[in-house]
Amino acid sequence: MCGIVGYVGPQPALQVVVDGLARLEYRGYDSAGIAVLSGGRLRTEKRAGKLANLRAALEAAPPEADGIGIGHTRWATHGAPTDVNAHPHVDGDRRVAVIHNGIIENFAALRVELEERGCKFTSETDTEVAAHLLGEELKDRGDHDLAAAMRGVCRRLEGAFTLVAMEADNPDLVVAARRNSPLVVGRGDGENFLASDVAAFIAHTRDAIELGQDQVVELRPDSVRVTDYDGRPADVREYHVDWDASAAEKGGYDYFMLKEIVEQPRALADTLLGRVAADGTLTLDEMRLTPADLRETSKIVIIACGTSYHAGMIAKYAVEHWCRIPCEVEVASEFRYRDPILDRRTLVIAISQSGESMDTLMAVRYAREQGARVLAICNVNGSTIPRESDAVLYTHAGPEVGVAATKTFLTQLAACYLVGLYLAQVRGHKFGDEINTVIGQLAHMPEQVEKVLDTVDPVRALARSLADADTVLFLGRHVGYPVAMEGALKLKELAYMHAEAFAAGELKHGPIALIEDGLPVVVVVPSREGRGVLHDKIVSNIQEIRARGARTVVIAEEGDEAVRPFADELVEIPAVPTLLQPIVSTVPLQVFACELALAKGNDVDQPRNLAKSVTVE
Ligand code: F6R
Repeated sequence: MCGIVGYVGPQPALQVVVDGLARLEYRGYDSAGIAVLSGGRLRTEKRAGKLANLRAALEAAPPEADGIGIGHTRWATHGAPTDVNAHPHVDGDRRVAVIHNGIIENFAALRVELEERGCKFTSETDTEVAAHLLGEELKDRGDHDLAAAMRGVCRRLEGAFTLVAMEADNPDLVVAARRNSPLVVGRGDGENFLASDVAAFIAHTRDAIELGQDQVVELRPDSVRVTDYDGRPADVREYHVDWDASAAEKGGYDYFMLKEIVEQPRALADTLLGRVAADGTLTLDEMRLTPADLRETSKIVIIACGTSYHAGMIAKYAVEHWCRIPCEVEVASEFRYRDPILDRRTLVIAISQSGESMDTLMAVRYAREQGARVLAICNVNGSTIPRESDAVLYTHAGPEVGVAATKTFLTQLAACYLVGLYLAQVRGHKFGDEINTVIGQLAHMPEQVEKVLDTVDPVRALARSLADADTVLFLGRHVGYPVAMEGALKLKELAYMHAEAFAAGELKHGPIALIEDGLPVVVVVPSREGRGVLHDKIVSNIQEIRARGARTVVIAEEGDEAVRPFADELVEIPAVPTLLQPIVSTVPLQVFACELALAKGNDVDQPRNLAKSVTVE
């Protein structure tokens, strides 16, 4: 939520900052702004709306920028998305500019205090408090030690924040601080960068430094100094980013989402790479959980939000079946408020593609305080959730820029399956043969997804034909139920349509009253393997809704003749084991939502009101 960029070095700072913002726009896109030094004076420019509005304003009156600048793309929390509320914010003397990601929870009390000191506020934001505090702190100190002033300010703030500041009297220094919000430094040669995400500077350097909690960084062209809030040098982790700028480009597609859907076979293969040996042995040593830890696990609790939560729901079916360990799944934002029962033998699995979702992070902290061990499943190297967990399994899907999760969802599923199968192996489960068979089948899932992508075109035409529908319902059973939920979520967030998912068995308990002539209902049909009973039950459900006028869109495995007579539209997917079916059945639903949204003229990469990484509670 909110994208932040900072730069010091010999390049034209404005260009570097605006290019960086373009790569971070997925994090928030309701306004954008920059601050640069121009002939020793601070120049800010900010505009409501997408980055294009800011670019147009800058083109109309281009500032002469020195080699220092900061930029921000906003997802509004306090104050509407207007020009005035856009960042940067400045102090009363316009000597200091500040950008911020997060929420300063005690801003109201601080604002009163600052107003009593004579500070005049121009916006409704919590961020402006930080700008004035910094200006006042510098005045009180009587020097231009921006880093010391920042440390002083941070000690007074409550909440979550990444703050980045520059000062007119410090022409080669950008200072930033972080608490609970992401911030990463890019180390260049005679230049340095900082941003919420490496994507902002990947075109310049792949050498990054991960900042820890409650740290302040001073960025100069030739140096990066990191301290804690008391000014003591802090330990940091340096790492090399293993993807390059092209991975964060559209690569010929009109939208990142389209590219990311197509990348799924590759992404899945990368998740499995090096973890599944030809003989079926799984190697997950990198998780840092020992087999002994896993053997003593008595309960698993999965916490996640949104699409990641759906991955968790699917994982529950697999983990309980393969490992015979009780497994709960909970929306992270609810978890810590219900006093859950956790102890050392509880393994909490936190699923988060970004590794920054505040709800999940808070749930992780809570779980660890209660003595549980936490395993993170995450896509972003070095992000906060894996750093604060006992163990991590990275999904290696590469950067996902489209706001709607696609390839990260499929790779989360693969990672969950790996964890479940590994647990079963380590605990020597009685379904040994089944485990080995499934491991073999999991290794072939990238090819199965490729097959879905090769045959998915009719779904696009179907989606376009439904662009005027008011409502679409989704039904599923077993692992098909969370898949139906994921299909409905994708449609809501991309096409802004009413979409709702039900467990097909629940239909008769109320929702069937919604069915009327022509209502599109998408049904995810379980595979016929093993649990044939589920399959037969859902075929009956399809008949029930069709009898009441529904237009049935049926997703079923190839060769499933039992459903054909009741399907107004049939979408065939490869036959795979029941528990792995979500990997293939989700793909047509992603394509369906994306295409329907495009038919309505929506921007599928940046749906309204959303942001990729939700760093506020
Ligand atoms: C939907 C979507 C969101 C995220 C959710 C959790 O397409 O992307 O629902 O899944 O905000 O985000 P992470 O996984 O980053 O914690």
